[in-house]
Amino acid sequence: MRHLSVPNQQVEHTLDFMREQNLLAPGMRVFAAEDNNSRLIPIDSGAALVLPTELADYPIIEHEGRTDERIDTDWWAHLRNLLGDEIVESGGEAWPSSHEFFADMMIVRLEEEVAQYSSEIATAKLLSHPHIRLVLSDAGVLGELRIRDLTPIGARLEDKIVVEQIPEDVASTRVLVKESGRSILCDPTRAYFSTKLQSERLETLELAKELRSLLDRPLRVCDPFCGVGPALATLLGEPDLVGELLATDLNPDAVELLFDNLRRWDRKEYPVGPNPVTNIHHDRIAGLADATELQHNPELIGSWDLLLVNLPHRTIEFLPALIPLLDRTNTSMIRGRVIVAESEIEDANEAIQNALPPRLQGTPEPTLKIKRDYSSTLRLCSFEAWIAPAP
Ligand SMILES: C[S@@+](CC[C@H](N)C(=O)[O-])C[C@H]1O[C@@H](n2cnc3c(N)ncnc32)[C@H](O)[C@@H]1O
Repeated sequence: MRHLSVPNQQVEHTLDFMREQNLLAPGMRVFAAEDNNSRLIPIDSGAALVLPTELADYPIIEHEGRTDERIDTDWWAHLRNLLGDEIVESGGEAWPSSHEFFADMMIVRLEEEVAQYSSEIATAKLLSHPHIRLVLSDAGVLGELRIRDLTPIGARLEDKIVVEQIPEDVASTRVLVKESGRSILCDPTRAYFSTKLQSERLETLELAKELRSLLDRPLRVCDPFCGVGPALATLLGEPDLVGELLATDLNPDAVELLFDNLRRWDRKEYPVGPNPVTNIHHDRIAGLADATELQHNPELIGSWDLLLVNLPHRTIEFLPALIPLLDRTNTSMIRGRVIVAESEIEDANEAIQNALPPRLQGTPEPTLKIKRDYSSTLRLCSFEAWIAPAP
């Protein structure tokens, strides 16, 4: 999460300004920086990348966010009120003390031991988070399309909380998530989207800017597993960064949402329904496609400077099918995400290096950097590879 690093004496004044401008991350708290002379103020993930000039003197630091314990204390108090101390104590660690925000929705995972108390859990969450409209329980991610299996367990209906017969419009999971100043239309029950990848997308933006400096022109960007397009939201927000774009996904629902998003980000017309990958504008090719098939379309191969590979379970397996898309007449870059057991990271690095064309001289070997835990043994990692022009 982005934080503003502000000297201790200026924190109060800065907080007032950020509160007025809606720049504070809700539910997160301010904490001391390592030097103890300044404090880190959590920036709302929806805030534009360039903050108002009043804040320009303070550096922006990436740091794991810290939750505001007061809200947490509230949730436990409401749960105890609803269920009594004995039941809460007997649930132990099984209660969903953490959750994920998705615009005005909250997603929780219910352990089997406490699943029977879903109504009380939803009520306690809604009482302690007044900006939340809908609480959903999460039964995991489904199949290759990575959509979420979500069930509404409570909602706010004007000033009432309902846990049964939630009206369809209140239970809608189609929401606009604000990130880095852009609105991203998504629906986690129809297409993959993660709110936790903002830092990843900002890193991709920095790498893309480096590549643009090297090539000295806007980039031709290929995102063959684009989902609803969040990586593109960040890249398209930077003036003159994206020249041409190829954006595809296998999931028709993701493509429908992508078109809606591109229509707003690009201020251009896009089809309403999903269609097979086509040239929609002279610099925009988008639509439904199996990424592994793109290599058979002569108009698409050898054309792209930046290739994004975000299918972490299969990235390494798919690399050989994707490399023909790169424009090898000049330097290009692949930015990928991989899920791998920590004990197998070395092998995965070797597999990536073997699959890729030679790297650009003077750039580091592509190696996986651990970004976070995916399970007790698996790690979510990312890598970037600077690819040399073919001799
Ligand atoms: C982990 S999600 C990433 C989506 C998006 N890039 C993001 O960051 O939110 C992977 C996406 O790949 C799509 N997908 C899976 N297999 C595919 C294939 N063979 N060709 C194209 N897309 C595929 C899924 O539908 C899903 O939207």
